[in-house]
Amino acid sequence: MIVQVGNQKGGCGKSTIAVNLAAHLAKSGKDVIILDADRQATSTNWALDRLESSEALPTVQNVQASENIRELALDLGRRYEFVIIDTAGRDSKELRTGILAADLLLVPFRPSQPDLDVMPTLYEIITNAQLFNEKLKALAVLSIAPTNPMINEVAEAQDYLAEYADIPLLNTVVRDRKIYRDAMGVGKGVVEMDNPKAIEEITSLWEEIRGHKA
Ligand SMILES: Nc1ncnc2c1ncn2[C@@H]1O[C@H](COP(=O)(O)OP(=O)(O)OP(=O)(O)O)[C@@H](O)[C@H]1O
Ligand SMILES: [Mg+2]
Repeated sequence: MIVQVGNQKGGCGKSTIAVNLAAHLAKSGKDVIILDADRQATSTNWALDRLESSEALPTVQNVQASENIRELALDLGRRYEFVIIDTAGRDSKELRTGILAADLLLVPFRPSQPDLDVMPTLYEIITNAQLFNEKLKALAVLSIAPTNPMINEVAEAQDYLAEYADIPLLNTVVRDRKIYRDAMGVGKGVVEMDNPKAIEEITSLWEEIRGHKA
């Protein structure tokens, strides 16, 4: 199964979600590789930190690629149980060619209007790709969302995204928690740390993704 995490918007939590899904899968005994298609190499650096960790962490393979990644993604998809593709925060060749191979595109959105404003363009990119890759399914997830229940940005974003019925919004909301930054810095996923709320977020995120692809 090939899962791409992508959005033309930068800084919406793509790499954080990509590495956390990969760590969760590895911890569950799955064979997983991250295809890092962003020259910033955020997820590659995470994988290197993971290799250098003093703890014995389950293996997450990593490979970097740029430009047209379709053939490589398809090849990895045949060799690994799960391929997680991390792409850059812009409309790139990697974003567009990755989704020609992916089973699923997961689009993280920060719950703020400037972030949500990219949805119409993204919708067009996705529907175009679906002409060539009929199995492609796209899902949206709210990310880096405020934990304060008094802030109603999450509900507003949910209302906005509900208009895009072809790109279902997952119920799971990935909140803004320091533990995500801490885990990122030491090559771990939050499922390997001790914050139950973050563990629950990533676990239920994956369960929802699986549910949509079943
Ligand atoms: N759920 C979260 N809680 C707290 N901090 C987060 C969370 N998700 C991401 N961050 C932080 O926000 C910043 C951007 O996250 P990240 O690098 O995952 O985004 P990105 O979409 O991959 O960015 P880019 O477009 O540059 O590739 C990083 O500093 C990251 O540690
Ligand atoms: Mg990134």
